Amino acid sequence: MLRRPPFERISSSAADRARRLLGRAFGPSKLLVGAEACAAHGGDESDADPVAPDAVVLASSADDVALALAVAAEAEVPITPRGAGTGKSGGCVPVAGGIVLSTLGLRSIVEIDREELIAVVEAGVVLADLHAAVEAEGLFYPPDPSSLASCALGGNVAENAGGPRAFKYGVTRDYVRGLEVVTMGGARLVTGRRTQKGVTGYDVTALLVGSEGTLAVTTRATLRLVPKPPAVATLLALFADVRASGRAVSAIIAAGLVPRCLELFDAGTLEAVRGRGLPFDPRAGAMLLLEVDGDPAGCEVALEHVGGVCADAGAIEVLCAQDAAQRDRLWDARRQLSHATRAMARHKISEDVVVPRTRVADLLAEVEAIAAATGVRMLTYGHAGDGNLHVNLLWDDPDDAARVEQALERLFRAVVVMRGTLSGEHGIGVTKAEFLPLEQGDELIDLQRRLKAVFDPKGLLNPHKIFPRRAHGSC
Ligand code: LAC
Ligand code: ZN
Repeated sequence: MLRRPPFERISSSAADRARRLLGRAFGPSKLLVGAEACAAHGGDESDADPVAPDAVVLASSADDVALALAVAAEAEVPITPRGAGTGKSGGCVPVAGGIVLSTLGLRSIVEIDREELIAVVEAGVVLADLHAAVEAEGLFYPPDPSSLASCALGGNVAENAGGPRAFKYGVTRDYVRGLEVVTMGGARLVTGRRTQKGVTGYDVTALLVGSEGTLAVTTRATLRLVPKPPAVATLLALFADVRASGRAVSAIIAAGLVPRCLELFDAGTLEAVRGRGLPFDPRAGAMLLLEVDGDPAGCEVALEHVGGVCADAGAIEVLCAQDAAQRDRLWDARRQLSHATRAMARHKISEDVVVPRTRVADLLAEVEAIAAATGVRMLTYGHAGDGNLHVNLLWDDPDDAARVEQALERLFRAVVVMRGTLSGEHGIGVTKAEFLPLEQGDELIDLQRRLKAVFDPKGLLNPHKIFPRRAHGSC
């Protein structure tokens, strides 16, 4: 773990007050106060230290959410919304204790409208279940974070989740037409619209998507769908090294090609994939995984085109996935990478920096330089088509934490110099909050703090996220 000083916990009398008020509002089936249950709701999939809350509310309706937020306001204790806990920046960690509000129990797919191409879902719906339900109707909901088998829509909205298909289709925000949310104290808002177009008032929906659970708690979302592409084809291109694969990414983009996914694996992550029974050419030190979709004839042409560009860019080998089973194996190995890399060392930080797409090769070279200079083991994979790469820093010895911090700061600084951004899909949360001033000016951070205060004047909803502890200065 990196050294992040803990936040001050609420007093035991405040915790007692909250539990007393919650006990009046909720029966025992919806209120957990035992140490084990609280501990089970204290962490996510990031390297943020888990913190057990003082109580957990298992909401199963918008009424429950409103009630829990009203109690938190009355008791003046922090309340932290939580979906499936698959986040990667500590967003749902209740860093000051208080109440965790789980929305996993709101699990209805309320509506799928085939004519309007809309789905209305509750916050606790698991993404893979939504995918299956809309695809059964010949429709498609593109966002596909790797945690899709277990992550919940409420968390996807909070973090503006992305995934490999974002290269062609965009991210969660591009699909959220409207939201039903509850603000601190229990007021309910219906934002946005059902229609294709709409410019009434401020775009509050867009502000809420990606606000990391700091402004309001989502109970329901109206999502835009698209027709399900009739055909999909998958291609692998193996390269001698990661720089060659980075050059191929630039060549594909420069050729104006838009595969739906354009994923990159460096030598270390390719090795992890080989370990899952996919014995690729041992000469390969990097790989691109590409996928195209559309009508079958168009897919074939696009695949040939993309394969040709990879070959011209120096690929050692270009392979097409032969059937659905082979495709599934590849994607399964890709989606498991986050867990697979976690298993490679005692400690891991996974970043999700983004650089302009033309700078992917530069970012990869920078990562190699930082790893060489600091001696920190770094592995990179991810959504190269979007310039969004997961740079993983691995270490075993706790004494190495200082070097890892140095490497991390160098990475962030390099990304900002390249006119990139610190987070493409995991959010700032608690893990990157101190680095925010590297990218955003004081005035902008201050404006966002004031926006937060409009929604949550006492700072009780998911406190200490996104913004650094101090208003000014860099890290
Ligand atoms: C992925 C997660 C880490 O792309 O965002 O696997
Ligand atoms: Zn990702």
